[in-house]
Formats: sequence, structure tokens, C-alpha cells
Amino acid sequence: MKEGCEQEANAEQGLVGSPGAPPLVPGDALHCSPEEREVFYRIIAARRDIRRFRPDPIPDDVLGRILWAAHHAGSVGYMQPWNFMLIREKAPRQAVKDLFVAANEAAAALYGGERRVLYDTLKLEGILESPLNICVTCDTRRGGPHVLGRHSLPETDVYSTCTAVQNLWLAARAEGVGVGWVSILANDRLRGIFGIPESVVPVAYLCVGYPVEFGPVPELEAQGWGERLALDDLVLTERWPAEGSVRAKGSVRADGG
Ligand SMILES: Cc1cc2nc3c(=O)[nH]c(=O)nc-3n(C[C@H](O)[C@H](O)[C@H](O)COP(=O)(O)O)c2cc1C
Repeated sequence: MKEGCEQEANAEQGLVGSPGAPPLVPGDALHCSPEEREVFYRIIAARRDIRRFRPDPIPDDVLGRILWAAHHAGSVGYMQPWNFMLIREKAPRQAVKDLFVAANEAAAALYGGERRVLYDTLKLEGILESPLNICVTCDTRRGGPHVLGRHSLPETDVYSTCTAVQNLWLAARAEGVGVGWVSILANDRLRGIFGIPESVVPVAYLCVGYPVEFGPVPELEAQGWGERLALDDLVLTERWPAEGSVRAKGSVRADGG
């Protein structure tokens, strides 16, 4: 087989062009060329959290591939605890927007002075502007009471769901689709809006659609709220550094931001 994305193999499998079918190859047949590797890292670098959307709907085949990517994330014990609730109707989205407004007021009150002024200028959701919202949930009961690998760390089901969200986010970027994660919400009230039972955790409420733009840097960086930490400061060797050492100094802001 030739190196690369193996389009011929896909054609043989009859998968090309059908909704939700990305270029599939057997795992051991994937060899990234330098160019493909570069594209992979470029997608990671170009992923952005999006809050401003164009109203155009996402075609079914594009959405299918994005959800396929999410569903192929790793999960503890192969639990696959996720569901993807597609929300297009206005009324529930308005209800979620109301939740956001209330939670955001409470969050804003945590800041004072210049930080508060800056916070109030930030746009932190695109719930109504985006054509699609997706609530990614984690069903804590899926797989029964004894999920392999989860016994000592029950929250690994939520960790697993987060890996699905990241797959979704990256696949969307590859498709030119923007995703904005809204966590400024009261989860119990979110459950109420969508009839989600107690045993299911709403992990990510996502606004999805074609973006006005993919900014060159995170919006919070462009707005002066924060900046990317130096990777070198985050890589530790062998053990946690001693208290007071340069590596342990941390980066907690006095104003909590
Ligand atoms: C778990 C999680 C929750 C987030 N919640 C929000 C949110 O409520 N509102 C918002 O505007 N952005 C939210 N974001 C997006 C972050 O602000 C964003 O990822 C960060 O500023 C870096 O920007 P980038 O995603 O464009 O690289 C969230 C991101 C994550 C991973």
C-alpha cells in the first residue's frame, strides 16, 4: 500500500462520501507523510474556541464525520459513556442562554477593578447565534457496575467523555466548523431543560457552526485576559518539584483570573 491517507482503500470499502464515513484505513496501514503530519499539527494549532457564528447549517455528512471522530475517542474499559444531544430548536437554546446569563452574572461578580471591566467585554458563548448546539453527556451507568479500569477512579468516565469532546473539536476544525464550549451554566438546571437523569452528567455544552473567523490566537489572549504558558515551565522530570523551587512557583493570579 502507498503511504498517506489511503484513499484507494477507502474506495474499496465503499465508505467514501457516505455520511459519517471519514477516510478509514486499518490501524497498521496508516503512515503519515511529513506533509500529512504537518496538517495534523496545523489542525491542533488552528483549533479555536468560537463564540461568533454564521447561521449556515452544517451539512449532514460533515456533522456525521465530526460525530464519528468524537465516537472514536478512547474510553475507560471501552465504556463509550458519551451521548451527543443535537439541539436545533430555539426554545431550549433560549432556556440555556438564560442559564448562561444568570451564571455569568455570578461569575462576573468574582472580579473587581480593571479585571471586571475586561470580563464584561468578553463574549463567552454563541448559544443562539450558532445553528446547532450539542450537549455531550456522560452516562455513568453505561457498561454496568464494573467497568474495567474504572474501579479505583470512577471519574474516568467523565475523563473519557472529554477525550470525545476534544476529538469532536479537532475534527470540526478540520472541516472548517467552529465549536465553542460553554461551561458557565448550572448543570442541574441544564438537566432539567433536557430531561437528563441524575446518573448522566452533562459534560460539555457546545455551540457549533461555521465561524465568522478562526482567530490566529485564543480570543482570551487577543483580549488580554491570559496568555499561553511556556511549555518548558510545564514539563517536569521524574517527580514533583520541591516546594519553593523555581519549577513549583505556579501561576495563580492574585485576582483569581
Ligand atoms: C472545559 C472547558 C470549558 C470552557 N468554557 C468556556 C465558556 O464557558 N465560555 C467560553 O467563552 N469559553 C470556554 N472555554 C474555552 C476556553 O476559554 C478556550 O479554550 C481557551 O481560552 C483557549 O482558547 P482556544 O480554545 O481558542 O485555544 C472552555 C474550554 C474548556 C476546555
